[in-house]
Amino acid sequence: MSSNKRVLILAGDGIGPEVMGQVERVMEWLSARRSFSFDVQSGLVGGVSYEAHGTPLTDETLADAVAADAVLFGAVGGPQWDSVAREARPEMGILRLRKEMDLYANLRPALVFDPLVEASTLKDEVVRGLDLMIVRELTGGIYFGEPRGVETLPDGTRRGFDTEVYSAPEIERVSRVAFELARRRDNRVHSVEKANVMESGKFWRDEVTALHAADYTDVALEHMYADNCAMQLVRRPKQFDVIVTSNLFGDLLSDCAAMLTGSLGIPSDEGGNRKALYEPVHGSAPDIVGQNLANPLAALLSFTMMLRYSFGAADDADLIEAAVQDVLAGGLRTADIMQDGMTAASTDAMGDAVLGAL
Ligand code: NAI
Ligand code: MG
Repeated sequence: MSSNKRVLILAGDGIGPEVMGQVERVMEWLSARRSFSFDVQSGLVGGVSYEAHGTPLTDETLADAVAADAVLFGAVGGPQWDSVAREARPEMGILRLRKEMDLYANLRPALVFDPLVEASTLKDEVVRGLDLMIVRELTGGIYFGEPRGVETLPDGTRRGFDTEVYSAPEIERVSRVAFELARRRDNRVHSVEKANVMESGKFWRDEVTALHAADYTDVALEHMYADNCAMQLVRRPKQFDVIVTSNLFGDLLSDCAAMLTGSLGIPSDEGGNRKALYEPVHGSAPDIVGQNLANPLAALLSFTMMLRYSFGAADDADLIEAAVQDVLAGGLRTADIMQDGMTAASTDAMGDAVLGAL
């Protein structure tokens, strides 16, 4: 890789700038070590954008995000903006980015690093070596479906309703991401729905089956009901390689999967030729902001996913992940992942250690 990669950094507020600062150090190291360099631009999003411009995302910043090869996002939100109107709240910045960039495929990995096996609440043999990827549909389904609302029926009964709706193209494009990803991993896909009780679930299953038959017979495909998948994730998570599912089921199942391991990062797309945004799953952590306590590894590992999926730089991603592995194996822990009796390392110390390992 030798051309300039245009990266837009939107650190946001809260601990966003703290963790992103460590990512930038690693980016500089990478630029100095390799012939390629990043053309880095920064922008405001969330509360800091609201303070400066009265909106959590300006049209200019959105245009910069669309023009960039990839976006690195930190975190947004905080109690100081609780009284702000809904459409101006910091969180609307990331929602608008996802929608306007059409980030329909949300990749959420669950990867257990050996030195952190003891951080899981599950048994060692259940989670050791775990490496699965959930592909969650992110711009459709019941969170966006119409009709939705609250109404009063003629007999006076009040009710609330939402609609689960998926078109064939929506199912096809997210399933393609899953199949393509599986080809680069362990070549297995579980498609998850509730075809037994939902029409949209049956449709989902039929569409995935048809796509598989047409283009991906080399990938092993299994269908699974979402309730069973939840159970299997806790019982025997290593049976999974890639899971593809709807927005709602993906929301629940990926949070469940994150807890098998401690959380990682969420890049919202893959493939190298589409726009993508990469972010750690955590928020702005108002309780620890400004104290040099935040764990920068989720943001850093989101960056390695950018290298891997947007820039085809798997070797560089491997290198950084190995450095993280080394640092953890050496016993260094920020407060959120330390065991009793350990001393907490600061955000900066964790960044120093990763650079040292590199
Ligand atoms: P949170 O993820 O910010 O914090 C939850 C807990 O985890 C806190 O105790 C925090 O200190 C800890 N934590 C989070 N990230 C950490 C890190 N990197 N290192 C060490 N500890 C970490 O979620 P919470 O408290 O529910 O939300 C706080 C704010 O963040 C809210 O305004 C919320 O809307 C926003 N938020 C933003 C997200 C985003 O920007 N994508 C995602 C989730 C929440
Ligand atoms: Mg969630």
